[in-house]
Amino acid sequence: MGKLVLAAKVSHVPSLMLSETSDSPLRQARAGAVAALRELGRRAKEREVTTFVVFDTHWLSNFGYHINANAQHRGSFTSHEAPHMIQDLRYDLPGDPALAQAIAAEAQSHGLKVLAHQVPTLGLEYGTIVPMHYLNSDGWAKIVSIASPLFTSIEESRALGEATRRAIDASDERVAILASGSLSHRLWPNKDLGPDAWTTIASEFNRQVDLRVLQLWQERRYREFTAMLPDYAVKCNGEGGMADTVMLFAALGWDDYTGEAEPLCDYFPSSGSGQVNVEFHVS
Ligand SMILES: [Fe+2]
Repeated sequence: MGKLVLAAKVSHVPSLMLSETSDSPLRQARAGAVAALRELGRRAKEREVTTFVVFDTHWLSNFGYHINANAQHRGSFTSHEAPHMIQDLRYDLPGDPALAQAIAAEAQSHGLKVLAHQVPTLGLEYGTIVPMHYLNSDGWAKIVSIASPLFTSIEESRALGEATRRAIDASDERVAILASGSLSHRLWPNKDLGPDAWTTIASEFNRQVDLRVLQLWQERRYREFTAMLPDYAVKCNGEGGMADTVMLFAALGWDDYTGEAEPLCDYFPSSGSGQVNVEFHVS
């Protein structure tokens, strides 16, 4: 039987990588977050993870849910959205078509519109590529990347998260789930972009709610968190509607989850959004 052995909410902001570029003004600014991602990779390896399932809020879809089920993910990625931040980032990672197809079949059997694709030219988005750069750079584990639809509901994303967990449990894999996306996600408007934008949040309201969410997690008050999540996603400008967080909590058991939330770095702003790397321990 398969097993979920690691679950985490992770950041994928491009400034993580700029922080490691020698000539960047952001040099080392994200060192704590980068170390947190590397630590998650170490833990995943220690727990003999065979597949990462990434709920990617940077892969946004208009029509239904989509899963990249390619057997090999290979490419050189330049971000359409931020070509000045991510250019020619090479990746070559094994996929897990069987688990990807199983997740799709399980979700379809519960009435969800979801497709798993094996199309060699279907590349990965940076919500998957950036975390994998730190957790799985040499492709020691397989990956499945799952998109976040724009025109959906909390209920549908929850159904996909639950289907993912059932498919994992029925597989032969040891799986790490990564919810790849922001907490709050109001970005600085164009006219306000400047050096300070990297390290400041665009809304004090969002920062206060993010900090409250982190407190609820650390106090394991997940019943309250899941109750506020639909409002949080809307009022705090959730990236991809916070579909990654919805799917993660659905996979963990929603408000029945009781595990420890372990922040692996300080909360940090990036371009106005709120970012974290938190492991949600599974027994
Ligand atoms: Fe993003």
